[in-house]
Amino acid sequence: MKGKFRRALRVHPRRGVPVVPGQLEPVLWNPGGFFHEDGCNPSQLLDYHTGTVYPQDAASQLPVALLDPRPGEVIFDACAAPGSKTTQIGLKLADTGLLLAADSSAGRRRVLAENLARQGIACAIVLPQGLEQLAGALRAVADGVLLDAPCSGSEGRSRRRVADLAALQLDLLLRASGTVRPGGRLVYSTCSPTEEENEAVVRRFLEERRDWEVVKPEVAGPDSDRAGLGALRLHPEAFGCEPFFACVLRAPGQGERRELPSRILKPENAPLNEIAIPAGLLAWRAGHSLLLATPAAARTDLHCEGRGLQLATEGPAGWRLTPWGAQALIERGAAGPALTRADARRLWAGETLELGLPAGTLVRTEAGAPLGVLQVKGSRNRLDLPSRLCRSGLF
Ligand SMILES: C[S@@+](CC[C@H](N)C(=O)[O-])C[C@H]1O[C@@H](n2cnc3c(N)ncnc32)[C@H](O)[C@@H]1O
Repeated sequence: MKGKFRRALRVHPRRGVPVVPGQLEPVLWNPGGFFHEDGCNPSQLLDYHTGTVYPQDAASQLPVALLDPRPGEVIFDACAAPGSKTTQIGLKLADTGLLLAADSSAGRRRVLAENLARQGIACAIVLPQGLEQLAGALRAVADGVLLDAPCSGSEGRSRRRVADLAALQLDLLLRASGTVRPGGRLVYSTCSPTEEENEAVVRRFLEERRDWEVVKPEVAGPDSDRAGLGALRLHPEAFGCEPFFACVLRAPGQGERRELPSRILKPENAPLNEIAIPAGLLAWRAGHSLLLATPAAARTDLHCEGRGLQLATEGPAGWRLTPWGAQALIERGAAGPALTRADARRLWAGETLELGLPAGTLVRTEAGAPLGVLQVKGSRNRLDLPSRLCRSGLF
């Protein structure tokens, strides 16, 4: 069924110019989003592994475009995994503020963590709980909240299943609304075409929270919702993307967000010889890891299972950059030579090359895409790859 939709990707704003076969057509509602041709499989591209492109349906790019996260804000992504929208939010926050990413599924959170690392997001912390457990601790802490709710999807489900989901969606929406600061915003979205999971859920929410209002966004492309609420719908017939519903809701009042508890942190200044910590970020030791994050993500004292980026790990030979940590540093301006795409591709395929570069050299492609960190094997160089990727046998 998925094959009937036109596929799309997002381009990372700071990782160079991707090389994607065929034509790209802009997604109207999200600058940086593009439809690509059917024959192109982004996850097979070198630029996917450098984090330069991220496959994401065009419709799924709508909710974050509507949420419009701004630098310095606290954003709560309440149903975050596998992280398509979380990474989109993280890039908009651009190394500032705090992104709280929660999901009740441990398996899906593992993919979320990997996607955050691949996209080099330093402002996120991953909360290992569902909304039911988190809503109390996160009361009024967020400037903006995304509830991309579990839904029946685009393929349809039984009436009973849809009714159960609609009840869950309303419950999650009511809980999520409590985490928004006075005057803050909440985007409710699903990829289901049913009215029951969309317009009806919003209507029932507005009956329970009479002082909330729908904000009608100005955005090119999507149609109005079916109930005249001021929400938006994307129809497959119009753009070839998945069906989607998204509604922007505003909390009553005007006011500051509640501050989250913070912890004392001892930052590391120059833990890896020669490698400077990027401006505006903090690095600190956590066991045998060196973590890198925005000050808010580093200091916020919440129980979490992932925080910022794992920059390096400590072993018997000292600190060693992780592959994704190296990519994150290159993206933020760390110096290193540029390789031809042909050499870059061969390194990513696991080959060793006669480059004559010392171990620990950070390398990029000619177009600026961050490749990672080189090691030396005999007289030849090989690229450190994320271990999961090596194990997957993809190359
Ligand atoms: C539509 S998916 C989210 C997709 C995600 N926003 C993205 O763009 O990649 C819904 C997610 O909600 C999670 N979920 C279900 N019930 C939840 C709850 N009570 N609290 C938090 N997450 C929940 C599911 O595990 C699932 O990952």
